[in-house]
Amino acid sequence: MMKRPHQPPSGGGVSGGYRRPIIQYLLLAASAFSLLVFAFQSSFFAGNQTILAVNKQDIQILSKFQSNVKQCVANRGLGLTAKIIDHCKLVLKFPEGTDSRWFNKQFKSFEPLEYSYDVCETLLLWEQYRNMSTILTREYLDARPDGWLIYAAKRIAQLGADKCYNRTLCDEILKVILPPDPPFRPRQFKTCAVVGNSGDLLKTEFGEEIDRHDAVIRDNEAPVNKTYAKHVGMKRDFRLVVRGGARNMIPILKGSDNEVLIIKSLTHRDFNEMIKRVPNPVYLFQGIVLRRGAKGTGMKTVELALSMCDIVDIYGFTVDPGYTQWTRYFSEPKDGHNPLQGRAYYQLLECLGVIRIHSPMRAERKLDWSDVPNRDMINRAHRAAVRLKNVQTGQDSDVGPFRSCKVWANVGPNDRGPISGSPDMSGVRKNSNYSKWEAMPFEKLRKEAQDHYIQMEGTTLYKMDGNKLDDLVCVRHSLNSGS
Ligand SMILES: *[C@@H]1O[C@H](CO)[C@@H](O)[C@H](O)[C@H]1NC(C)=O
Ligand SMILES: *[C@@H]1O[C@H](CO)[C@@H](O)[C@H](O)[C@H]1NC(C)=O
Ligand SMILES: *[C@@H]1O[C@H](CO)[C@@H](O)[C@H](O)[C@H]1NC(C)=O
Ligand SMILES: *[C@@H]1O[C@H](CO)[C@@H](O)[C@H](O)[C@H]1NC(C)=O
Repeated sequence: MMKRPHQPPSGGGVSGGYRRPIIQYLLLAASAFSLLVFAFQSSFFAGNQTILAVNKQDIQILSKFQSNVKQCVANRGLGLTAKIIDHCKLVLKFPEGTDSRWFNKQFKSFEPLEYSYDVCETLLLWEQYRNMSTILTREYLDARPDGWLIYAAKRIAQLGADKCYNRTLCDEILKVILPPDPPFRPRQFKTCAVVGNSGDLLKTEFGEEIDRHDAVIRDNEAPVNKTYAKHVGMKRDFRLVVRGGARNMIPILKGSDNEVLIIKSLTHRDFNEMIKRVPNPVYLFQGIVLRRGAKGTGMKTVELALSMCDIVDIYGFTVDPGYTQWTRYFSEPKDGHNPLQGRAYYQLLECLGVIRIHSPMRAERKLDWSDVPNRDMINRAHRAAVRLKNVQTGQDSDVGPFRSCKVWANVGPNDRGPISGSPDMSGVRKNSNYSKWEAMPFEKLRKEAQDHYIQMEGTTLYKMDGNKLDDLVCVRHSLNSGS
């Protein structure tokens, strides 16, 4: 080396004399530092390894579960196949040549033939629904921060203000349909049938089978009468409606005064008018933003069903191959929305033990669900998914049902609000059977629902917004109040 770079222009010897110890210092410092870094890295690495060791078992459980799901899709998916990406990720594929000609106006595209899912997240989401209330209540509005001022206003169309500055006014509009606490509870029914409106209902005769369920959930203007009885049954317990359907509701409800109406979106002038003219109990759905999976009322009826029923059988959904039109059993075909996306997602849900699918192409099968993961496997996979998520998000190892409670409220035995209805009920409305649900004595509840309530220490869970997993509103009732 002839010339050192960055050498001071003069007094080389002197500066050299100074420099040597500095360089030695620097070298020492550098090696000390790298030792430190090394120590830090290896301890970090060791820590990581402990985490990995703990989670290895969970990853095994989930990988095993993924193979079960894959097998289930192969057996039941009518051509769909599952490709496992890792212990959580899974891709569902339609066979080559599947007709995807249904143009999606919203996304300006034809439907893809492949759909990726995070099975862990899906499991967390849908298992959560089993413990959830999906009905808007007074205690929820009271508990949620700005529940009345901001949230209540969002559920009223044409309020004339962006917020409920006049709480009395909002209370007056809502109280007709606002129960004090959940009128329906987790595990209230053993079996529920969710009946969609697909035209393929006419290809089968599921009527009696549907009616044998403890509760039947329908949507919008689906007619239930002798004409369709053998295809769709006659039992009517719940009906989820979008507000656009309000005007048609009166002739459709005729003769079923006890069928509970649940409004999916907003209450509205038309609706309040309609409500006054029918004796049926009416409520608002809680949790209306949907971010994943198939869109529409169908998915919401499944959520509603899962929040009250152990077993959810679905009929009349568009889940068979070969559709070219969106059909309804009671009217002409109309424009459809995402049939392939829906079919894939419902198939995934069936293989996660959330729903059981019934359709013309599955009607010939005997009722054998042995290839669907059973409750034990699902519970194990669910706990593993919770633990993995806790590690990933740096939370502690809480796997209990309250781990997602962001907001807590307590309701004492004497804090309970009035049951739904308003003082100026019309003649028809005076016979409304709100009390059947809202004043049901605890002892009359199904044993499983009572046990659940006790295990949950009298706590009701509500979603804060749409499908978000975390951020629950949790309201604890004193257990001896029995409500
Ligand atoms: C709030 O609304 C109620 C019910 O409509 C009404 O009687 C009252 O005058 C309103 N209060 C204000 C300050 O506007
Ligand atoms: C059943 O409902 C459909 C559609 O509303 C109607 O056309 C039909 O006449 C009804 N049948 C009976 C027996 O009421
Ligand atoms: C649901 O409730 C049961 C008690 O019935 C509880 O054991 C379970 O952990 C809860 N699951 C979730 C996901 O909250
Ligand atoms: C209200 O519900 C009760 C209990 O199910 C039932 O016996 C009664 O007939 C219903 N009343 C009306 C007006 O429908």
